[in-house]
Amino acid sequence: MKFDVLTLFPEMFEAMKTSIVGKAIEKNIIDINLINIRDFSKDKHKKVDDTPYGGGAGMVIRPDVVYDAYKSIDSENAKLIYMSPQGKKLDQKKVEELSKEKHLIILCGHYEGIDQRVIDKLNPEEVSIGDYVLTGGELPAMVLIDSVSRYIDGVLSETSTDEESFSDGLLEYPQYTRPEVFMKEKVPEVLISGHHENIKKWRRQKSLEITYKKRPELLNKITLTEKEKNYIKNLNEEV
Ligand code: ADE
Repeated sequence: MKFDVLTLFPEMFEAMKTSIVGKAIEKNIIDINLINIRDFSKDKHKKVDDTPYGGGAGMVIRPDVVYDAYKSIDSENAKLIYMSPQGKKLDQKKVEELSKEKHLIILCGHYEGIDQRVIDKLNPEEVSIGDYVLTGGELPAMVLIDSVSRYIDGVLSETSTDEESFSDGLLEYPQYTRPEVFMKEKVPEVLISGHHENIKKWRRQKSLEITYKKRPELLNKITLTEKEKNYIKNLNEEV
């Protein structure tokens, strides 16, 4: 999968060279190409922004430099995304949907944003990573690239995304590893029993319990069996 990122701060993406995403880049499973918007400035001082018409604080990125930077990319069959707090909030469903694309072009704003005319012209899908405002779209772009990359074949081990939080609408069950006893606490007996059916059942119950305690609103979005509904009802009575 190819990611073209339009940014004024390409150096921020150095962080993507590490860990799992870094390995995926090395293996050529994903390609992150950084385009510095400043390279498209026609100004002798490489200026890309100016004061807002109508007054107000901060600087606005000029539409012509953003347009020229975008036009330098082969955008055939690509999907353009603009990272913006005004966009639709990114969730696991959207992440999975985006992972089916072959080529994403991600536009990062900075300062007070980008001149609206080029946004209207390019008509990107606007994506937010949450209801808070960051200094620019670079960190959100990295969040998007990281979360989407996890769904690309070969980035994670085969089944890693199957049973994680949100994959079935529930939060993930707790995980344990060695040592078997830590500060007098033993790992749950069922997990060392080798009984796969019981382990599966225990994990599903823990997922239900954790979701009920931490994010109960998620339970309204999924279909539960009668048995599971009863299990939750009993949890409710325990509290
Ligand atoms: N740019 C600034 N804040 C943002 C956010 N919350 N999501 C996406 N892009 C942003």
